[in-house]
Amino acid sequence: MKTIREIDLKDKTVLVRVDYNVPLEDGKITDDLRILASLPTLEFLREAGAKKIILISHLGRPEGAEPELSLKVVANRLNELVGKVSFVSAVSGAEVSEKVNELKDGEILLLENLRFYPGEEENSKDFIREIIESTSAEVFVQDGFAVAHRAHASTSAVAEFLPVFAGLLLEKEIIELSKVISEPEKPLLLIVGGSKVEDKAPLIEKFLGIADKIIVGGKIAADGYEAADSKIYVAEDFDTDAEGAKLDVGPVATAKIAEAIMDAKTIIWNGLLGKAEDPAYATASTIVAEMLGEKTGAETVICGGDTTGFVLNLMEEHPNLQYSLISTGGGAALEFLLGKELQGIKVIE
Ligand code: 3PG
Repeated sequence: MKTIREIDLKDKTVLVRVDYNVPLEDGKITDDLRILASLPTLEFLREAGAKKIILISHLGRPEGAEPELSLKVVANRLNELVGKVSFVSAVSGAEVSEKVNELKDGEILLLENLRFYPGEEENSKDFIREIIESTSAEVFVQDGFAVAHRAHASTSAVAEFLPVFAGLLLEKEIIELSKVISEPEKPLLLIVGGSKVEDKAPLIEKFLGIADKIIVGGKIAADGYEAADSKIYVAEDFDTDAEGAKLDVGPVATAKIAEAIMDAKTIIWNGLLGKAEDPAYATASTIVAEMLGEKTGAETVICGGDTTGFVLNLMEEHPNLQYSLISTGGGAALEFLLGKELQGIKVIE
């Protein structure tokens, strides 16, 4: 795969697809993993002498222009982190060209939410051509791993107009996730939780062929997920509330999970084991997060938005915790692990 290490970026105007689809509450960013994860690429581009860096992203699933889903809030956060970041509330046209002309060496311009315009999801060539013409972009960098499973104008049609290179985040995600599915160090353990059985069942099925053990907790276990193979262990006891609702994996299951973690050399965790937003039901998830973060000499991959958010919060209190990968990809990571072809990656290859 061609990465940004393989091109001369000196004095180039570079268009970068990032995924800044961050969670918002009352107009504030509640988890900036995706912004932080994009910084190595931005720093690399600056150090390599890129003249102008234009960032494009979506935010949420707006129907037309919804001011509360403007990327301005993200531009402000990015400016706090790396400086010299400006924002324009358009994606093409004279206003964008003017802003691009004003950029000095290594300065960054974030364009408005791509999904304010139907052309993005329609994978429209005209839509992306206008963006490229307005920004005078010469090179395209795909670094939005989390959106790489979508065939949209900024992940697919763009490749018809510009040479495409992988950014460092995309590269890292692919390397770490590939380690898990092809030639993992054994034993390989998959821990699955969460609530959507329709999302998790294909993952469990796929990993039956490669994992040594699969553990199922969370709501899917509480709802009675049935193990179809001796490799699968479904949590057998639960902590309940006064009404008897099963809200966390219980001590027997937690001990079995801990034992499996101690034995494993590669561990992938997708989905919380209980209703962990309530500290009373976060015990099993906390134990797993701490064990994985303290484990040395093993590949540890965390994926799924709720799980990564939980782990990041815990890391604020316990900065010693470390993981091989905290994936920025929700749906994209799942599709990658299932072995599906991701359009945003295909155009690089
Ligand atoms: C995500 O959050 O999974 C990505 O940003 C893709 O968003 P989407 O599911 O709205 O396409």
